[in-house]
Amino acid sequence: MSFPSVNPTTTAAWKALEVHAKTAKDVHLRDLLSKEADRFERMHVRVEDLLLFDYAKHRVSEETLNLLEQLFHECGAVQALQAQMGGEAINQTEGRAVLHSVLRDPSTESFEVQGEDVRALARGERERMFAFADAIRDGRKKSFTGKKFTHIVNIGIGGSDLGPRMAVEALKPFSDRSLQMHFVANVDGSDLHECLMKVDPERTLFIVASKTFTTQETMANAEAARTWLIQKLGTTACTQKQFVALSTNSEKVKAFGISEKNTFGFWDWVGGRYSVWSAIGMPVCISIGSIQFQQFLDGAHAMDRHTAEQPFRQNIPQIMAALGIWYRNFMSAASHAVLPYDQYLHRFAAYLQQADMESNGKYVDRNGERVTYATGPVVWGEPGTNGQHAFYQLIHQGTELIPADFIASVLPEHPLHAHHAKLLSNFLAQTEALAIGRPKAATAYKVFEGNRPTSTLLFDRMNPFALGALIALYEHKIFFQGVIWNVYSYDQWGVELGKEMANAILPELEGDGELGAHDPSTTALLKHVRSFL
Ligand code: F6P
Repeated sequence: MSFPSVNPTTTAAWKALEVHAKTAKDVHLRDLLSKEADRFERMHVRVEDLLLFDYAKHRVSEETLNLLEQLFHECGAVQALQAQMGGEAINQTEGRAVLHSVLRDPSTESFEVQGEDVRALARGERERMFAFADAIRDGRKKSFTGKKFTHIVNIGIGGSDLGPRMAVEALKPFSDRSLQMHFVANVDGSDLHECLMKVDPERTLFIVASKTFTTQETMANAEAARTWLIQKLGTTACTQKQFVALSTNSEKVKAFGISEKNTFGFWDWVGGRYSVWSAIGMPVCISIGSIQFQQFLDGAHAMDRHTAEQPFRQNIPQIMAALGIWYRNFMSAASHAVLPYDQYLHRFAAYLQQADMESNGKYVDRNGERVTYATGPVVWGEPGTNGQHAFYQLIHQGTELIPADFIASVLPEHPLHAHHAKLLSNFLAQTEALAIGRPKAATAYKVFEGNRPTSTLLFDRMNPFALGALIALYEHKIFFQGVIWNVYSYDQWGVELGKEMANAILPELEGDGELGAHDPSTTALLKHVRSFL
């Protein structure tokens, strides 16, 4: 293992941060911002032609930032990134390398990991995906009855749904509007049922997206969709032209009956929640075309370079990760809000919930010990301005400290410019109000304490390149936090128990035999359900 397993609480920086936090708690953003004329100058990062990141509205001083930088150093954060990008099997509990950065790396130089040139593998599948997606778009690839596809249905869940769904929504202004994109994830039959009512069987392409090709929800939906299509078109042969698989499990895909030609692979070194850059990005690629999908990859690659090359104070993912640690571990913030002032990003928080919480929601460290400190926070959010009329009350005047990321673009991707000025005025007003507050008012109810910290991520515009950079930025932030918390960010054992127990309950629910051993509450609920069947 080429980066050390460090209990962060044993570092000198952590101990110093604990002491420092006692005085920092009394410092108000109002004072920091009014007294330090050069604060913005010191606490922002401009990446030309992409974004402006402002971290001046955080409850930190130069000392705080220096200590956080020292913490990164003592925990080997930069070494860890090198180990990841160098192809080491840093996902030790699954014995896997973590190489989603290779999927967006344009280099053609050979990069051997465990005896294989991973760049060549990635390039080969990418080229196949590009050719396929473009042929669907321009009508060269037709349906079973010879029609142009107009409906694309992605069947997948978790990482095989959230990333592509979010990106397709985010990049709608860049999409081919004649193609209607649908996403079916839930094993609740209403999800597939509602979708099938909307699509034309003669013009629908089904994409079955599953890394393992064993996930209960996805397989149930894929099988039901196949039955539906065969019934509508009257022959099993239609599936050859209208079903596509995105998976690492070619055996299972074959057994399902999807041709090799229509199967697009990836590898165990691509984690599900980091897979939108791989074949799992197929719906995005069909929606925006290969040229723009390449820009999406290029944006992510630019952020990989930024992350690997910039010093701490200019390194956006490192600063965001460090600030998150500061609030979580030294100021007891239990949640983190992500607030895009961009309706096209309305699925961004949902996507980030998996990326972040499935990665860092862990209480066992890399030595197999229970941690004695807090790890991943609850991540949540909704687009502004909608959120302002819902939960902002609690952020402004509630008893919880909720650090928030505010995300917007200077230029809109729609023609309603007057709307955009209103949107941005709210965007700017909120971070100012949260930081400064309103110390005096006629009644206590109208007082705003302020001192609520926020980051501002202001993109020039939200295009495929920028979205790629935005996602990669959060991926790296999550990675650095996992390193500091000393957890294995790339496994997800915590989702297994529920899956196993559901598999045990299903036959009990469907049958009428003896129930297995359950707690009394579950037994009573099971009996109640069975009484209806
Ligand atoms: O929920 C657990 C999980 O394994 C996720 O990590 C993954 O993204 C999702 O299930 C879907 O898995 P698959 O792509 O194998 O169907």
